[in-house]
Amino acid sequence: MSNLKEVRVPDLGNVSGAAIIEIPIKVGESIQAEQALITLESDKASMDIPAPFAGKVKEIKVKVGDKVSKGDFIVLLEVGADAAAVEEKPAPKTETTAPKVLQETAKPTETATATVNTDDTAISSAEDDQGDDVHAGPGVRRLAREFGLDLNQIKGTGQKGRVVKEDLQNFVKSRLSQTGQSSGTGSGLPSAPQIDFSQFGETENKPLSRIKKLSAQYLHRNWLLVPHVTQFNDADITELEAFRKAQAAFAAKQNVKLTPLVFIMKAVVTALKAFPAFNSSLSADGEQLILKKYFHIGIAVDTPEGLVVPVIRDVDKKSLLELAKELAEVSNKARLKQLSSADMQGSSFTISSLGGIGGTAFTPIVNLPDVAILGVSKAQFKPQYQDGEFIPRLMLPLCLSYDHRVIDGAEGARFIVFLADCLSDIRRWLL
Ligand code: COA
Repeated sequence: MSNLKEVRVPDLGNVSGAAIIEIPIKVGESIQAEQALITLESDKASMDIPAPFAGKVKEIKVKVGDKVSKGDFIVLLEVGADAAAVEEKPAPKTETTAPKVLQETAKPTETATATVNTDDTAISSAEDDQGDDVHAGPGVRRLAREFGLDLNQIKGTGQKGRVVKEDLQNFVKSRLSQTGQSSGTGSGLPSAPQIDFSQFGETENKPLSRIKKLSAQYLHRNWLLVPHVTQFNDADITELEAFRKAQAAFAAKQNVKLTPLVFIMKAVVTALKAFPAFNSSLSADGEQLILKKYFHIGIAVDTPEGLVVPVIRDVDKKSLLELAKELAEVSNKARLKQLSSADMQGSSFTISSLGGIGGTAFTPIVNLPDVAILGVSKAQFKPQYQDGEFIPRLMLPLCLSYDHRVIDGAEGARFIVFLADCLSDIRRWLL
C-alpha cells in the first residue's frame, strides 16, 4: 500500500521569499529520507530542504527561480508501505553557517587562489562558470567561486556524487601540498614555473650534489630571513704584501704557504674586538644580542661538490703560521669530503675569499647565526693619489654584508674602514 504526501517548505526562521536555485531531483526518482529536494538561497543563507521521508517523486510543484516561503507546496512524494513515515517534518538542513564559513576561509582563499592560478586550465573553466552539471549546494558553489575552483575537477563524495564542502577542502589541501613540494619552500612564495627547456634546444639533467642541495636551503633561508646590506671598501695592502712575500721562504721551510687570507683573518679579529656587535648573534626572539667572547672564524671553501664552511677556532690565539697550516688542513679535508658537522659549527664571523680566482666585488650572504660576513676579491694595483701625485698601490677589495637588524649603516662603514686600516698597517694588531 502506498500513499501520496505533500512536502511543504518548513519554518525557515526569519527567511521568507527565498529563491530556488537548484532542484537536484527528478520526477519518477526514488529518494532517501534527508536527501535534498530543493536548494534555496536568501540574502542571509543558503539551505537545502531535505526529504522528510523516503519515497518516489510524483510531482515537483516548483521550478528554479521561484521564491518560496514557509508552507509552500514543493514536492509530491509517493510513500511506500515500507517507507519510514515521519509524522513531524524535521527542521530544514540549513547551511546557515555558510556565510560564516566563507568569512573564515577568506584568508586562505588568497593563498589557494594563487596556488590554483598556476593551473591555467582550472582558472579559465572556473571563470566560465562551468560546473552547472555538477551536483553541489549553493554554499559549496559560492565557496568554489571564492576559491576560483572548477567544480568539474572536484570528485564529489556526497549522495549521487554531490560535491560537498569537505570535497572542496580536500581538493585545496591536495593542491597546496603539491605546490609546496614543487617549490620546495612551502613559504607561501610564488613558485618558479616548470618549463620544458628541451623545446628550445638540447638539454641534460644533472642531479645536484647533497652539499649543493643543503647549501641551497641554508642560503635561501638566510637570504630571506636577513635584511642584508653590503658595504664596500678597498684596503691598501702594499706593505702587507711585501711582508708576506718576504716571509714566504721562511714559511715554506715549515711547509706552510702564507696567503693574504690569514692576514685578513687576524685583521678581522682585531676589528671584531673593536666592534663586538659584529661578533654576535641575534636571539631567536629578536630581543637580545648574544655577544661572543670567542673568535671562531668560518671560512668558505670551494669544493667540487659545492660550498662548505669549516670553522677555524680561537683565531685570536693563533699565529699567522699556525693559521696558515690549519687553513690548508681544513680546506684539504673539505675537498676530500672529510669534514664532520662539528668542524662546521660555532663560527662567530665568516670570511669568503674569492681573491685567488678574481673579480672586483661581490655581495656575500650572511651565514646565520652570524650577523656579518666579509667577502674578499682579488687585490690589484690601482693608482692612489698621495702627496700630490698618483702612485701605484696594491688595493684589496673588501665586501662586508651584515644583518641590518643588528648593525646600522654607520657602524658597518666604521667597521670596514677600521678593517682596511688594520690591513694597511699590520703593526696595529700589536697595539
Ligand atoms: N688577492 C690576490 N691574490 C690572492 C688573494 C687576493 N685577495 N687571495 C689569494 N690570492 C692568491 C694567493 O696568494 C695564491 O697565490 P699564489 O699561488 O701565487 O701564492 C692564489 O691566490 C691562490 O690562493 P688560494 O689557494 O685560494 O688560497 P687562499 O688562502 O686565498 O684561500 C680558500 C683558501 C680555501 C679560502 C680558497 O681556496 C677557496 O676555496 N676560496 C673559495 C671560497 C668560495 O667559494 N667563496 C664563495 C662563497 S659564495
